[in-house]
Amino acid sequence: MAKNDSLHQAKRAKNDEFYTQYADIEREMNAYLEYNPDVFRGKTILLPCDDPEWSNFTKYFAQNFETFGLKKLISTSYAADSKPSEIAYQPTLFEMSDPKFDRNKTRSRGKIFVLENDRNRDKKIDINDLKWDYLDGDGDFRSEEVCELRDEADIIITNPPFSLFREFLAWALDGNQRRIITIAHQNAITYKEVFPLIKYNKLWLGTGFKGGATHFINKYYQDYATASDHQEGMIRVSGVIWFTNLDHGRRHQPLSLMTMADNLKYSKHKEIRERGYPKYDNYDAIEVSYTDAIPSDYKAGMGVPISFLDKYCPEQFEIEKFRKGDDGKDLTYTMSDNSGTERERERRLRRITPYFRIVIRSKM
Ligand SMILES: C[S@@+](CC[C@H](N)C(=O)[O-])C[C@H]1O[C@@H](n2cnc3c(N)ncnc32)[C@H](O)[C@@H]1O
Repeated sequence: MAKNDSLHQAKRAKNDEFYTQYADIEREMNAYLEYNPDVFRGKTILLPCDDPEWSNFTKYFAQNFETFGLKKLISTSYAADSKPSEIAYQPTLFEMSDPKFDRNKTRSRGKIFVLENDRNRDKKIDINDLKWDYLDGDGDFRSEEVCELRDEADIIITNPPFSLFREFLAWALDGNQRRIITIAHQNAITYKEVFPLIKYNKLWLGTGFKGGATHFINKYYQDYATASDHQEGMIRVSGVIWFTNLDHGRRHQPLSLMTMADNLKYSKHKEIRERGYPKYDNYDAIEVSYTDAIPSDYKAGMGVPISFLDKYCPEQFEIEKFRKGDDGKDLTYTMSDNSGTERERERRLRRITPYFRIVIRSKM
């Protein structure tokens, strides 16, 4: 089984119980903080799929509450009874030793954790000041009570259930004002609800996981990573990205590129040197199979791979189109070599539909 089949398996089973590592969260948040050190100051942050027992998102923001100057941190969790039955559940000692503890509610209700002030009067606001309660419902992010919390929030941050990603994104962006930082699978870029947001710069990629893959904390799924990639207690998932509408420095760094003539001579890709840049049959643009082979001096449309979005700088390029040509079909180009008779050439024609292209145009 391929590495990220384990993710597909999780998706199919609607099992979404894997958890983000602290270091991944920290690295991503640092990108926003480097760009704007006050990015979280005075803000209410909602973490809508995050039980502090498990969630490093809650730990991270609670630990940095004062440093970031947060106004309020709200974290909600999803009820054990609403999760797949194979997910074992045991209330924490913290909950069981609280007079509020309720044997039934602990399974059937979601929980809310709020950090706002120095409750224990130890002169600092941190994770020990979290106050908690049961929600009225199971903590589904779509429930009325969690929607109310969403409406109170300035920023929503989480790794949501991948199986509900479309719904989650629409829910989080509802109202158009709010900022979000969320983990997703890169396939989400291809969703019809997501393309237009990217095209019109309402949503973009975060700074990413190293090499587009990471290890999530995992108790339930078999990890099919190769021995060298396997980490105990983890599941390796490839093709994961961060989506956000908060600014960071990487997206304002233009790609350094060669001209078309130089690419045809010196590109490290043999294909570019030998085959050049074929024109699509069904759209006025050229095929550029590698982001680093985008010709700097080409002024018309260029079809680039989806991985281009990792390097996308909106001051350098605009996004013109996703995937389809003028005929509504996937972008296609035709290859042939020019030897032999016309009939021989015709027989050797190869129509190639590269996987998911984004047509871009230079703005510089
Ligand atoms: C991929 S896990 C990530 C958990 C946590 N955000 C983290 O990154 O460590 C997604 C979480 O969302 C919860 N969940 C699933 N469906 C949900 C829903 N409808 N509303 C809220 N949470 C849900 C799952 O139980 C799971 O704990």
